[in-house]
Amino acid sequence: MSVVEEIFANLEARGAAIYGGEAVTQLQHALQCAVLAHMAGAPATLVTAALLHDYGHILTDDEDAAERGTDLQHEEIAARHLADWFPEDVTEPIRLHVTAKRYLCSVDPAYLDSLSPASATSLSVQGGPLGTEEISDFRRNPHWQAAVKLRHWDDTGKDPKMTTPALAAFRGMVTSALREEHEDAHG
Ligand SMILES: [Fe+2]
Repeated sequence: MSVVEEIFANLEARGAAIYGGEAVTQLQHALQCAVLAHMAGAPATLVTAALLHDYGHILTDDEDAAERGTDLQHEEIAARHLADWFPEDVTEPIRLHVTAKRYLCSVDPAYLDSLSPASATSLSVQGGPLGTEEISDFRRNPHWQAAVKLRHWDDTGKDPKMTTPALAAFRGMVTSALREEHEDAHG
């Protein structure tokens, strides 16, 4: 089984059962974020990041951690796991997508008010809005703008009425986003 097949099998098997306090399953959420990224003209690496940004929840299978006041750092778990196969253009926006939320809460009060209840609950265990120095640090990362884009798709991709193609539609794009040394896993 190629790594992409393995990731997709995990997403299909476990993502369809996890809601994480939202109106859609993790699988629907992943697909909606990927569609939104694709419609916005994002490159394959960022569409892949959108599709897999919550893969840490699939790996840990603990959707209610935030409600218990625990931050599992799902973004770090996913980024570390995926870094074996994908470049930083994929893993950095994933690693930064929670910091991007904390960043947007600092610079845009309307954003804070727009968070879903589950996302507002997890904000406090994730550390709350960024402070001034943290904002500068965040903006020094070359992937910060991609992470902010991903964050907006993340917030929008929770629509129970939205229809998306099946996961298999993204196989080619995700495969093309693999690091070059994994070309044997392509196809
Ligand atoms: Fe998400």
